[in-house]
Amino acid sequence: MNSLRSNAIAALLVGLCGPVVLPPPAAARDDVPAEVAARQNPVGELSDRDVRYFAKQFKTKCARCHGPDGSGSGEEAAEQAVPPANLTDPTHMSGRTDGQLFYQILMGGGERCAMPAYGPESAHGWTEEKVWRMVAFVRRFAQPTGD
Ligand code: HEC
Repeated sequence: MNSLRSNAIAALLVGLCGPVVLPPPAAARDDVPAEVAARQNPVGELSDRDVRYFAKQFKTKCARCHGPDGSGSGEEAAEQAVPPANLTDPTHMSGRTDGQLFYQILMGGGERCAMPAYGPESAHGWTEEKVWRMVAFVRRFAQPTGD
């Protein structure tokens, strides 16, 4: 994205959001309620069937921004005011709690980007359990393969 455009978007965000912190270059929502951020993923290990199912969901619903490999290389990534994070980066991902990932998928990008919400109240209407399963799937991008 050219910097004039990103400055304009940043200025717009400042106008919309009040006292502001400019968005960090690659991150996620910074307004996750503490109680949600602290939640642990209640679903255990994904079955092979879950993995295949969520891989397909990711490909059809998320890859246009996040890239097929989760690296943030999707064709619509450059259009987002804040770039999608690199979900394959263990350093970045170890700084994010399951609850933060859950909230982002549940509620979408809010003011920060065009990521849709997927939770029960959204047009996608995923159950909270399905959102948690997607969190577990997303975690796999930054884990060593072979499991
Ligand atoms: C229209 C583009 C778009 C789509 C579609 C999209 N996302 Fe995102 N997503 C983003 C952007 C941009 C960010 C970074 C947002 C920010 O910093 O506020 C993000 C952030 C995230 C985060 C937080 C990452 C972190 O560092 O905490 C997760 C998890 C996530 N997305 C998962 C998904 C999943 C799963 C789907 C599909 C079900 C999806 N996204 C669909 C654009 C998208």
